Amino acid sequence: MEIVFATNNRHKLQEVMALTGETILLRSLSDISCFDEIPETGITFNENASQKSRYIFDRYKMNCIGDDSGLEVESLNNEPGVYSARYNGTRDMELNVQLVLDKLKNHTNRKARFRTVLSLMLKGKEYFFEGTINGHITEKRSGDEGFGYDPIFIPAGYYQTFAEMTFEQKNMISHRSIALKKMLRFLKLST
Ligand code: IMP
Repeated sequence: MEIVFATNNRHKLQEVMALTGETILLRSLSDISCFDEIPETGITFNENASQKSRYIFDRYKMNCIGDDSGLEVESLNNEPGVYSARYNGTRDMELNVQLVLDKLKNHTNRKARFRTVLSLMLKGKEYFFEGTINGHITEKRSGDEGFGYDPIFIPAGYYQTFAEMTFEQKNMISHRSIALKKMLRFLKLST
C-alpha cells in the first residue's frame, strides 16, 4: 500500500521507514513533488497533524499520514508543545534547546515528555494514533545523534539522552514509534 508521509524531515522519515518496512510504500512530500508550505496553525498536536494529512488528501487524493510532535515540559506548563520547532521564534534548534535549559534553571521539577499524534487519511476517512514517552530534561546537552531536543531528554528508566542512543535504540522506544506501531496494527486489521 502506498502512503504519503507529509514531511521532508529526513530523521523522521528514517524512523518511520525503519518500522513500516515492506508493509507500506512510504512517500515523502518531495517524492510526490509537493513543495508547498503546508499550514500548521493549530493549537493542538491533533489539529496540526490533521491539517497536514487533509491538505495532501484534498489535493492529491492519496492516502496520507500527517504527524505533529513535540516536547512538553511539566514545570513550563507543557511548553514548548506545539511550538517546539520554533520555541524562541526561530527554527534554530540550538537556540530553542537553550531556551528550555534557561527557563528550567530555577526549577527542580524537570519532568518532560515527547508526544506524537498521527493523523491517517485512509480512503477519505481520518484516524488518530498517539504515542508518548516520559522522561526528564538534563542540565546540559549530551550526544550527537538524532535531532531537535534529543540531546537534553533522558527517557524514564534510562541513563542516556536520546542523542546518546543509537538510531535503533531510540526507535524502539520513541513517542513516534509507539504511535506508528498502533497505526501499523490498525492497518493490518483494516486492509
Ligand atoms: P514537528 O512539528 O512534528 O516536525 O516537530 C516539532 C518539533 O518537535 C521538532 O522540530 C523538534 O524540535 C521536536 N521534536 C519532535 N520529535 C522529536 C524527537 O523525536 N526528538 C527531538 N525533538 C523532537
